[in-house]
Amino acid sequence: MSWKTKPSATMKVPVRAQPWCTPQMLQRWTETILPKYAVKHGALMPILHDVQHTYRHIPQQAMLEIASFLGIAPSEVLDTVSFYEEYTTEPVGQCVIGVCHTFACEVCGHKEILDRVRERLGIEPHETTEDGRFTLLTLECLGSCDTAPVALFNDTLHERLTVERVDALIDEAMKAPVKDSHG
Ligand code: FES
Repeated sequence: MSWKTKPSATMKVPVRAQPWCTPQMLQRWTETILPKYAVKHGALMPILHDVQHTYRHIPQQAMLEIASFLGIAPSEVLDTVSFYEEYTTEPVGQCVIGVCHTFACEVCGHKEILDRVRERLGIEPHETTEDGRFTLLTLECLGSCDTAPVALFNDTLHERLTVERVDALIDEAMKAPVKDSHG
């Protein structure tokens, strides 16, 4: 196995004039998130969650802005973003569908559920539809084995799924207008 190093020291971050972390976001973080933590650094994950939720990804420039806001090194922000699956550096779909593919769901028909999503959306796991509406993921056990098969549609867990229910959930998600992921 060979190791590849990242050119972090010479990496160029694309910067646009308009900040990703808007004055309204900074004010919200100051008023509602920072007071919950003894040190500013503690607020990093909820702030990342807010940015991910707002833009469906965390742009590099936003990482610099967050580092500056919290008074920490940009590398600490990048380390956290790259460690947790919850955060992405490229936009995910407005509706992220995560189908559990661990044992209980596997034996209770997860393949039928997964195939239905693939068929309806024309994407494979870890792909996003061209219109930015859906991302499909396969996930490890979601802790609800007794109600398998299960899947997450964004933050909502759906249990004892059937193909008909998946169709209805996709139809529902298709009604929402797609929002721009670039602010
Ligand atoms: S195996 Fe799917 S929820 Fe546990």
